[in-house]
Amino acid sequence: MLSMKVIFVFGLALIFVSADIVGGITELSGDDLKEAEVTLNNSLSKLASGDGPNYKLGKIIKATRQIVAGNKYVYDVELIEGSKTKVCNVVIVSQPWLENGIEVTFNCPDGQVVKRHSA
Ligand SMILES: *[C@@H]1O[C@H](CO)[C@@H](O)[C@H](O)[C@H]1NC(C)=O
Repeated sequence: MLSMKVIFVFGLALIFVSADIVGGITELSGDDLKEAEVTLNNSLSKLASGDGPNYKLGKIIKATRQIVAGNKYVYDVELIEGSKTKVCNVVIVSQPWLENGIEVTFNCPDGQVVKRHSA
């Protein structure tokens, strides 16, 4: 009876550990945060020189990365549009091996915009 419990608890722990490896969400700092900033700036400038929106990065409030099929970055950021600054949640799913494999979703107070661009 005890061993059943041990196996159950151990199995549960294993599920959590493997979930962390496969789908873990990491809050970024240091070099990882810098890399996430480069990724975001790259998307913002590609979109600004394409069909928009035309944003510049104000500052990153928080950023996370999740390794999926590719990378998924989630940012809380201040975005600058002309003379206005707004706080948005931005999601970048990066699958650079696909055509137009970078998908950028802006969740801003004035609504949601989804864009794709090449790597
Ligand atoms: C990202 O863009 C912002 C605004 O243009 C700039 O201040 C910042 O230095 C850039 N960051 C990187 C890592 O290039």
